[in-house]
Amino acid sequence: MMTQRVIGNWKLNGSRQMVSSVLTEIVKAGFGDNVAVCVPFPYLELADQIVKGSSIQIGAQDVSQYHAGAYTGEVAAHMVREMGGQLTLIGHSERRAYFAETPSTLEMKVEQASDAGLFIVFCVGEDLGVRQRGQAVEYVLDQLTMMQALNPDSFAVAYEPVWAIGTGLTATAEQISAMHNAIKEYMGQTVSVLYGGSVKAANAADILAIDGVDGLLVGGASLQTDEFIAIGRCAKVS
Ligand code: PGA
Repeated sequence: MMTQRVIGNWKLNGSRQMVSSVLTEIVKAGFGDNVAVCVPFPYLELADQIVKGSSIQIGAQDVSQYHAGAYTGEVAAHMVREMGGQLTLIGHSERRAYFAETPSTLEMKVEQASDAGLFIVFCVGEDLGVRQRGQAVEYVLDQLTMMQALNPDSFAVAYEPVWAIGTGLTATAEQISAMHNAIKEYMGQTVSVLYGGSVKAANAADILAIDGVDGLLVGGASLQTDEFIAIGRCAKVS
C-alpha cells in the first residue's frame, strides 16, 4: 500500500498570523512528508521557516509558464523552489475556469515545474454537464494526455470533480473508484491519484478507504487547523 498524501490548498486565504499559527500546530501534530500545505506565494518563505526541522512540505498553488523575462505579475517555478517550496499544484479547475488556462499553457507550466525540481500535483476533473452526459472518464483522461511522458514519481494526479469543489457535494465511492482506476489504467498503476472536492474530517477516512485513492487534496477544510490535522491522521503511512 502506497503512503497516502494529504495536501492542503489554501487558495486566496491566509495571513502571516495564520501561517504561523496553523503551521505551528500542524508541525506539532508530527506528520511525515506525506502532508503538505500550498500557501499563497508571499507566505512561502515564512511557511518554510515554520516547518523547518519537520517533514511537512510546503507548496505553491500555481507557477508561471515562463522562466524569466517581461511577464509582469508572474512567479516562476524556480523562485518557488528557492523560497522553500517542494511542490506545486498545476491546472486547478479554478485556474482553468477563472484564468483561462489552456492545455498548452499547462504543458509549459509542467515543464517549468519539472525543470525547477518541484513535485507536481496535476489537477483534473469534469463539470456536472460532462458527468451527466456520461463523458467524465473520457474527459479526464484527455486532460491527462500531456502528463503521460513524465516520470510517474515526479507527479501525482488530483481528481477533483468540479461540481464537488466547495459545494459540500462529494462524489460517490463508486464514482471515485471508477475514475481513479481508469486514471491508473491510462497513466500506469504506479501513478498516485488523490481525490479532492469537499473533503472534511467527517468523510476523509471513508474516502481514503476507497480502492484507488492515494490521498486527498483539501481546500476549505485545510483552513481549519483541527479539521486538517484530523484529516491528516486518516492517511495511511507505510
Ligand atoms: P474544497 O476544495 O475542499 O473546498 O472543495 C478542494 C480544492 O479545490 O482543491
